[in-house]
Amino acid sequence: MACDKFLTLNNGIKMPALGIGTWQAPENEVEEALNLALEAGYRHIDCAPVYLNEKVIGRVLKSWIDSGKLTREELFITTKLPPPALKAEVVEHVLKNSLADLQLSYVDLYLVHVPFGIMFDAAKSEFVRDENGVVMDLTTDHLAIWKSMEAVLEKGLTKSIGLSNFNKNQIQRILDNCKVPPANLQIEHHVYLQQKDLIEFCKSNGITVTAYAPLGSKGIANINKAAGVDRELPDLMDIEEVKDIASAHDKTPAQVLLRWIIERGISAIPKSTNPGRLRQNLDIFDFSLSEEELDKLNALDSNIRVCDFSFFKGIERHPEFPFTS
Ligand code: A2P
Repeated sequence: MACDKFLTLNNGIKMPALGIGTWQAPENEVEEALNLALEAGYRHIDCAPVYLNEKVIGRVLKSWIDSGKLTREELFITTKLPPPALKAEVVEHVLKNSLADLQLSYVDLYLVHVPFGIMFDAAKSEFVRDENGVVMDLTTDHLAIWKSMEAVLEKGLTKSIGLSNFNKNQIQRILDNCKVPPANLQIEHHVYLQQKDLIEFCKSNGITVTAYAPLGSKGIANINKAAGVDRELPDLMDIEEVKDIASAHDKTPAQVLLRWIIERGISAIPKSTNPGRLRQNLDIFDFSLSEEELDKLNALDSNIRVCDFSFFKGIERHPEFPFTS
């Protein structure tokens, strides 16, 4: 079962609507999971250097390409400019580091991971923290960074450029000042956080949308806990309406949550390192939701943001923190 739906980016490039997310996929699990995912038919892989697993992903991709099982052109690889590198002068260097780790000469999509900069301690390989929380880089200049994004595009190091976690005002400012508009916005999107306004805005500006945490990203609870944030997260797979629709189609709640996203012209990148679940998440192209079912799911919107970055204590004070407007 492969993904037979594609989103066409504003540069004509086609992105498989369903990809595999690799956040919270530890190095020791990701190799086997990615091999299984490629065998299952996944071709769109969402990566980021802050997920600390690009080297393993690179080894798997190389083995598939070298053995002739796949060509580079069949893959759609996304990676991201990480929060400690939100500086115009380092964009090319940081992208080249990701390319070296991924063992690729280009990625298909390069995203600015977040709109706010954070200081990083390379020696300790962790974000810098003091008694107030994470130490912010307050010099974040979106327009200067975007110029560097356009430059790496021009150099062929990526086929497309885009944004992640930016709000409407931040995107509008880039649109007003860019040579190349963003091709994609990656945001948290699921039945409990639908972001209808932002998605409408992207559609009207020709920007495709990718949903991260499409299944509610329960794993964020562990990241929150490690950062001392005690927060109950909802279980999207336990919502009555979702379960009812799933049983009506003989599908799982996860498959309904993903199908609801894909059916509305949005891309989804569920993370799984479990063989059965990663196959299940791709097996959503043989059924469709009725108007009535779509309405029921649309009505679940509750403005519950799972990834609010509270694990970066104090980050809401950054002038470019996106979730205030
Ligand atoms: P696992 O990797 O063990 O399968 P999201 O993509 O929203 O961030 O959600 C990822 C989380 O949901 C992970 O904890 C993942 O665990 C779990 N998950 C992924 N696919 C499914 C599924 N089909 N059913 C239940 N849980 C899933």
